[in-house]
Amino acid sequence: MPTAMPPGRLITIEGIDGAGKTTLAQALASQLNHRGVDVRVLREPGGVAAAERIREVVKDPATRLGPRAEALLYAAARAQLVEEAVDPLLRARAVVLLDRFVDSSLAYQGAARGLGVEAVRAINEFGTHGLVPDRTLLLDVDVRVGRSRARHRDPTRDRLERERDEFFSVVAAAYLELWRRDPRRVRRIDASRPFHTVLAAALEEIADLL
Ligand code: TMP
Repeated sequence: MPTAMPPGRLITIEGIDGAGKTTLAQALASQLNHRGVDVRVLREPGGVAAAERIREVVKDPATRLGPRAEALLYAAARAQLVEEAVDPLLRARAVVLLDRFVDSSLAYQGAARGLGVEAVRAINEFGTHGLVPDRTLLLDVDVRVGRSRARHRDPTRDRLERERDEFFSVVAAAYLELWRRDPRRVRRIDASRPFHTVLAAALEEIADLL
């Protein structure tokens, strides 16, 4: 009997701004590449042309956006990314490393913007036809540390980064709640440690999927 091909995997990376998601995604991709895994890194909002244009709108400090429009724009960008890139890659049995996904909207728009996690979950279920990651790596870092890293990286703060520290404390608490509710999918990683330790922990948390 032919051996079954491994299925595609969707692994998402979450955390507040400055938690180290993008650096981890790149490092994981290069480690997995070395092992011969077909891996693709995508980011949200963005990853495909229409979603990159939405990214410009939502990040622009000059754009006036209410919480509902903001949530719908993130969900629209996500819907296009899933249809145009994530679904085809998963069908081709690739490992997709996604820098932010639905959990970002649950934490930022659902909790911090006060729209309600369940309402935001519903529009995203519609947008993604209910696609759920195989695993989510939650990079947990102190809000002040994350914010100072993000500021250091890019002193010109975007529309979201201009929010006050309290906004990000609510985001961080919401992420921890998502982890508590579904620790099988969401794995919390202490991202205040040296990067090689964080990378090793991340590899351990996804080892069973590869
Ligand atoms: P980043 O690419 O620098 O992480 O920027 C994305 C910003 O958008 C970041 O501040 C978090 C925010 N965001 C949301 O508020 N909701 C979402 O669903 C996503 C994907 C990002």
